[in-house]
Amino acid sequence: MSVILRTEDLSKHYIIKGGAFAKRQVIQAAKKVSFQVMENESLGLIGESGSGKSTIANLILRLTQPSEGRIELFGVDVTSLKEEEMRRYRKDIQIIFQYTNDVLDPQMTVDELLKEPLKIHRIVKDSEMDQEVARLLEQVGLSPSERWKLPGQLSGGQNQRIIIARAIATRAKLIVCDEPVSALDVSVQGQILNLLIRLKEELNLSYLFISHDLKVIRHMCDKIAVMKDGEIVEMGDTEDVLNNPRHEYTKKLIEAIL
Ligand SMILES: Nc1ncnc2c1ncn2[C@@H]1O[C@H](COP(=O)(O)OP(=O)(O)OP(=O)(O)O)[C@@H](O)[C@H]1O
Ligand SMILES: [Mg+2]
Repeated sequence: MSVILRTEDLSKHYIIKGGAFAKRQVIQAAKKVSFQVMENESLGLIGESGSGKSTIANLILRLTQPSEGRIELFGVDVTSLKEEEMRRYRKDIQIIFQYTNDVLDPQMTVDELLKEPLKIHRIVKDSEMDQEVARLLEQVGLSPSERWKLPGQLSGGQNQRIIIARAIATRAKLIVCDEPVSALDVSVQGQILNLLIRLKEELNLSYLFISHDLKVIRHMCDKIAVMKDGEIVEMGDTEDVLNNPRHEYTKKLIEAIL
């Protein structure tokens, strides 16, 4: 099994400038974060609001530049690749955000929304585009009749399936999921999580799965990393960590769901 993603001492600080008399403030959003995600593995990142989970996601996607440390994708150091050189990895790593009304362009039909990543990354020939859209819809459990609808004509769960279809359209190997079900109704949450589990096996995907919900992480992830104040305070196989938590913060998280 190969290593898909590896970080080494990844750190990020933000500098906040106050008003004229306020002191400059430094926020350590990520401190020396090291982990790896193997092929077909899902690593869960859990921690309270502000603990640095999304910061890690943004660093890995190279949406923001690390202050220190190293990121390797597929064995290649991408820490300081220029945007142009980074382009070849763009299709291999996708992100699924929490569903909100503004994630999908409200003017585009499902058909157009799914063709967009296929075109940008030249995944299939023009002549195969229609068939590929049909295949993607089926793969994420949507009926062919949804194809001509706009996001506003679909439910939250259906829209989240479209977002997932766009992520897998590029044949991504690693999908960063940042609170992918938090905005959904509990009954719908389970369906979306099960879809993600099925796709992981069918497509041999790896996930970096971010959630503040331990139940969700337990259901989804082989391994778990617990974050607090920008640091990973505990990491291991999910069941090992949950059955034998070492850090006080992890114990509190577990108590909260019992
Ligand atoms: N662009 C930014 N500029 C300044 N500070 C930031 C920026 N982005 C994040 N932060 C700060 O970094 C810290 C970590 O934020 P981050 O968004 O990574 O937390 P999180 O664990 O994803 O929280 P949540 O569960 O609420 O999404 C917070 O203190 C946040 O205020
Ligand atoms: Mg976040």
